[in-house]
Amino acid sequence: MMQKGKEEKKSFTCHGGMQMTAGQGYQNEMEITFDAISDNEAFARVAVAAFVTHLNPTLEELSDIKTAVSEAVTNAIIHGYENIHGYSRSDGGRPADEIIHEGKVTIHCVLDKDLLHIDVSDQGIGMEDIDQAMEPLFTTRPELERSGMGFAFMEAFMDELEVESAPNQGTTIHMTKKIGVGDWIDSEE
Ligand SMILES: Nc1ncnc2c1ncn2[C@@H]1O[C@H](COP(=O)(O)OP(=O)(O)OP(=O)(O)O)[C@@H](O)[C@H]1O
Ligand SMILES: [Mg+2]
Repeated sequence: MMQKGKEEKKSFTCHGGMQMTAGQGYQNEMEITFDAISDNEAFARVAVAAFVTHLNPTLEELSDIKTAVSEAVTNAIIHGYENIHGYSRSDGGRPADEIIHEGKVTIHCVLDKDLLHIDVSDQGIGMEDIDQAMEPLFTTRPELERSGMGFAFMEAFMDELEVESAPNQGTTIHMTKKIGVGDWIDSEE
């Protein structure tokens, strides 16, 4: 596995687009790619939450989306790229170039009217047995005090969850959720 040198520059890319389709409402799309370090987890979940803000999601919907994105991104970092020890830049004590493995995580979101599609992908080690990995309480990292509940949360908080993965081919998590199901905003206005 490649290791990242201290002097190497960090990178961040962002693409977006919005498209009106006559008779079909609108589609809105964005993609972000960032380094697979845990410093970026908070950024990732806030970015997706911000992307759907104009749909007036309820606090519960926002929290569900943020949790699901957070779980998927954490998995890409910890399992996909095995950045398991000091996977944060701010982790004290050990030099970053010893512990941070090269890798990027990409989040691609498409809003199709009120339906949010989120793909979280990595090019890491991938999974042999996806069904087993998705079982509640299954973890390959019990020594890190992982509880094996990440996929269960993604499944519970989103309407759909699909996992695509193969050994050494990386992993893509597809999730969808309908936004605006709650009605408390309307009732307050
Ligand atoms: N992106 C990924 N790349 C490789 N393996 C993965 C990836 N995501 C999940 N896995 C595998 O699936 C298992 C289950 O993932 P899940 O998120 O449910 O639990 P966990 O990450 O082990 O624990 P928790 O999420 O509760 O901290 C992981 O232990 C890991 O073996
Ligand atoms: Mg997890």
